[in-house]
Amino acid sequence: MLIVANWKAYVESVSKAKALVVSAKKLGIKKGVEIIIAPPAPYLGLLVQKRSTIAFASQDISDSTGGASTGEITAALLHDLGVSYTIIGHSERRAMGEQDARISSKVQRALAQGLIPIVCIGEHERDSEATYLQFLRAQVSSIFSPLELQERRRVILAYEPLWAIGKSAAESITPHDLHEMVLYIRKVVSDFLPGAAADKIPVLYGGSVEPANIRLLASGSQVDGFLVGHASVEVATFSALVKAIS
Ligand code: 13P
Repeated sequence: MLIVANWKAYVESVSKAKALVVSAKKLGIKKGVEIIIAPPAPYLGLLVQKRSTIAFASQDISDSTGGASTGEITAALLHDLGVSYTIIGHSERRAMGEQDARISSKVQRALAQGLIPIVCIGEHERDSEATYLQFLRAQVSSIFSPLELQERRRVILAYEPLWAIGKSAAESITPHDLHEMVLYIRKVVSDFLPGAAADKIPVLYGGSVEPANIRLLASGSQVDGFLVGHASVEVATFSALVKAIS
């Protein structure tokens, strides 16, 4: 199980960031879990160690190739720092105006520099006609279509329905619905990757994953891991969450 801790902008002190990483490193020894920490960008320089029981992701990435791009954080810089993954297309960034075309070019930039993209998809709401399924298909398609076959194999998808983000375990997706969505996403991916290769693309879930629901969500849903927000920024909560599935 892959557990990605997306700290968002919840962590705003170096001492807290360090305490969370010390604890995550101990949890990272556990069998069957792989922990990836996605701190705010400035902390990456402080926290990343190339040889560790945990890995690191950036919360976003620039689609710039470097040079005259004030304020941008490029894939090459992150890769050189020892960062292995990058979250791309998070709904909180899409809400700031980031669109599919930009997200697609970020994915290509990340792959070109050896970073593994964790690309977020997810509907705003569910309608009874299930048009949200078409919405998801379009998001997946815009990620995979421009990529070469070899590149497609290196993508991680994170299904994060917006209606489930930032709430509580009780308002999260049900294990049954999660299972259905994982199957649907894999079916869409199979349009872009032959047979078994589509099944190997990790599909994560994010949206109010807490110690109270992680085990239920994990069992039987065929999900490959979780992208965790608010439950990843307190040592005790994150530790309970990881222990619940290891
Ligand atoms: P919460 O776990 O706070 O709902 O956030 C989910 C998320 O957006 C992770 O990227």
